[in-house]
Amino acid sequence: MLHGKIVLITGSASGIGAETARQLAVQGAVPILTGRSREKLEQASASIGGKHGCYVLDVTDFDSIQAVVRQIEEAYGRIDVLLNNAGYGVFEYFADAPLERFEAMMDTNYMGIVRCTKAVLPIMQKQGGGHIINVASMAGKLSTSKSSGYAATKHAVLGLTNALRMELAGLNIAVSAVNPGPIDTPFLQTADPEGTYASRVRGYMLKPEQVAAAIVKVIERRTPEVDLPLSASIGIRLYGLFPRLADRIAGRWLNRK
Ligand code: NAI
Repeated sequence: MLHGKIVLITGSASGIGAETARQLAVQGAVPILTGRSREKLEQASASIGGKHGCYVLDVTDFDSIQAVVRQIEEAYGRIDVLLNNAGYGVFEYFADAPLERFEAMMDTNYMGIVRCTKAVLPIMQKQGGGHIINVASMAGKLSTSKSSGYAATKHAVLGLTNALRMELAGLNIAVSAVNPGPIDTPFLQTADPEGTYASRVRGYMLKPEQVAAAIVKVIERRTPEVDLPLSASIGIRLYGLFPRLADRIAGRWLNRK
């Protein structure tokens, strides 16, 4: 079922984007890696066994996204899956974070998805189907301290994802969200340069391989939404039902940043 599928992945020079590309290639899909640095893309490309493509693409630059998406369509004839994965976070207190940080994170994490989806959707409409997968986060459902800017971007991603799913339901275009908890990737070097958060959550940090495997399953099954790990998924559900009680009971445990 994955064989021959053309899967465009943003931010795939590292982390879960690169790992998902690796796993997809093993299963015979054709991952198209994209990212800002050609050098890093080439490094990621060297670790991928099967057929794949590489294109320089910055999700904040709409003109270049449109040009690259056109090139991909010309080269491969279609785009079956768009995996909107590019993103970053900076964990800091609201009072300390400059305004520009909020704007820049929103521009990449949320507007990046809007731009890439705008560029790819007409191709999926024309070909009569497709699948858009947005990598949000547990932070898109549950905000903790030092994540006001980052969590807001991921809440926005989930709002967009849910609306788009309803709009495209009749067009054979599935729309999914993937919401992982902390993952051991280069993300943490920017989010938490001192390593405080990483050391506190080390015990239940996900491996990129686990998250990539979950994304591959989402592609196969067209699952609307996945929260992982399972413990976080249960926690998120309880939090949704009893948010104030959960703040009181779990607040200290959750505020580990
Ligand atoms: P990562 O840092 O290895 O991967 C993110 C990639 O996005 C990087 O290659 C980065 O260069 C790229 N990127 C950033 N800005 C970009 C732009 N303007 N245009 C194109 N590419 C850009 O980290 P990871 O963990 O693999 O992150 C992937 C996604 O997972 C992100 O959206 C992140 O928010 C999300 N996530 C990460 C978690 C973690 O703890 N690592 C937890 C939950 C979600």
